[in-house]
Amino acid sequence: LARSDFKLEGDIVALRAPTRSDARELLTLRVRNERFFAPFEPAREADFLTLDAQERVLAGDLEAWRTGQAYAFVIVERRSERMLGWVRLSNVARGVWQNATLGYAVDESVNGRGVATEAVGLVVRFAFEHAGLHRVQAAVMPRNVASARVLAKNGFRAEGRSLRYLCLAGAWEDHDIYAITREDVRS
Ligand SMILES: CC(C)(COP(=O)(O)OP(=O)(O)OC[C@H]1O[C@@H](n2cnc3c(N)ncnc32)[C@H](O)[C@@H]1OP(=O)(O)O)[C@@H](O)C(=O)NCCC(=O)NCCS
Repeated sequence: LARSDFKLEGDIVALRAPTRSDARELLTLRVRNERFFAPFEPAREADFLTLDAQERVLAGDLEAWRTGQAYAFVIVERRSERMLGWVRLSNVARGVWQNATLGYAVDESVNGRGVATEAVGLVVRFAFEHAGLHRVQAAVMPRNVASARVLAKNGFRAEGRSLRYLCLAGAWEDHDIYAITREDVRS
């Protein structure tokens, strides 16, 4: 799975593997959305919103792609290449599971235009057609109605609620588990 091979194009967005030179635009995006993203992200180190930290994040993404542990993409506007968010498949498990967990975030200023819905559709296709995975799982806080809607529109099933599942913004939060398997896409 060579990183450079993957530019995934939809109608309004494209996904591409990030490079270290994306750090500045990623930083700007994260700074602008600091309060919007915070409830759904881990508590961050004090220096997280610096160019250095973002370069480290991107270097980590490169390494994770190389070792097959995670596949991270930036979501860009197809025409302008402007960065609109990110989406990633993490915790890749092989063997009998062939599973990954899905995460994403989209710039608040372009919310409600179908950006996340299209990006999730593209990354699910990548998971099944290119990464050889069988199942993609997402975990969503019950109050995150927009995110649940994005998954429903992409054919994910709600499988149940896991209590105190992830530590986000410093608190162990209950999450609804959603999943899709390759068979769902074929049918
Ligand atoms: C969740 C998030 C990715 C959605 O991005 P987006 O590009 O606006 O998503 P889309 O436009 O593709 O779809 C959003 C859907 O949710 C709906 N929606 C948004 N807010 C809603 C609300 N309060 N109640 C009900 N539906 C809502 C929209 O109407 C749309 O559905 P529709 O097409 O049927 O009208 C974005 O809000 C975000 O980044 N949030 C912060 C980080 C986050 O929550 N990440 C996911 C963690 S699991």
